[in-house]
Amino acid sequence: MPDPAPIDPVPISPAPRTAPVVWFTGLSGAGKSTLAAAVAARLRALGLPVEELDGDRIRDLLPGTGFSAADRDGHVRRVGFVASLLAKHGVWVVVSLISPYRASRGFARQLCARFVEVHVSTPLEECERRDPKGLYARARRGQIRNVSGLDDPYETPHGPELTIDTRYVDVGTATGRIMAHVGL
Ligand SMILES: Nc1ncnc2c1ncn2[C@@H]1O[C@H](COP(=O)(O)OP(=O)(O)O)[C@@H](O)[C@H]1O
Ligand SMILES: [Mg+2]
Repeated sequence: MPDPAPIDPVPISPAPRTAPVVWFTGLSGAGKSTLAAAVAARLRALGLPVEELDGDRIRDLLPGTGFSAADRDGHVRRVGFVASLLAKHGVWVVVSLISPYRASRGFARQLCARFVEVHVSTPLEECERRDPKGLYARARRGQIRNVSGLDDPYETPHGPELTIDTRYVDVGTATGRIMAHVGL
């Protein structure tokens, strides 16, 4: 019996460098999703692999997740975990979540090699004036409860990498600041 033909080794490309996780936190209506989409578009235009994890869309995928402190905390931690997995494989991750608790954000931070916390600090009065989802109006009518900043806590970040108040900073300028922060 002749020896079997040698099998060509499968070429192995080097593992991609860990990508940053850009994490937008702030009240509902602050501008997180708007800025996240703009940053993601800029990253994609550079040809980078990008995943957007937006709170509203993710909640639809995790039915049964409510707005109690325990549910919110677990939700943010789970998203942080997924973000860290993607980032480890070189995917740039843009997360927009109210993520009201410091401890849950801290958990996400310690999982990620490069964590860029962007506090979208637009205050409640302005968020309520915009009210893009009618959330505050419903809360004021007593139809919903546990709205962060209204009748539920929002813990302001202590040491965010960036703070952006969208009353004063337009989308283009904010995006530019974030891109500069990640070195692009
Ligand atoms: N400079 C700005 N940056 C981001 N959003 C802004 C800005 N100025 C006004 N807006 C508006 O504020 C609203 C923010 O909504 P959204 O991005 O869904 O907030 P969030 O995801 O934080 O709940 C949008 O209607 C957006 O057009
Ligand atoms: Mg949003």
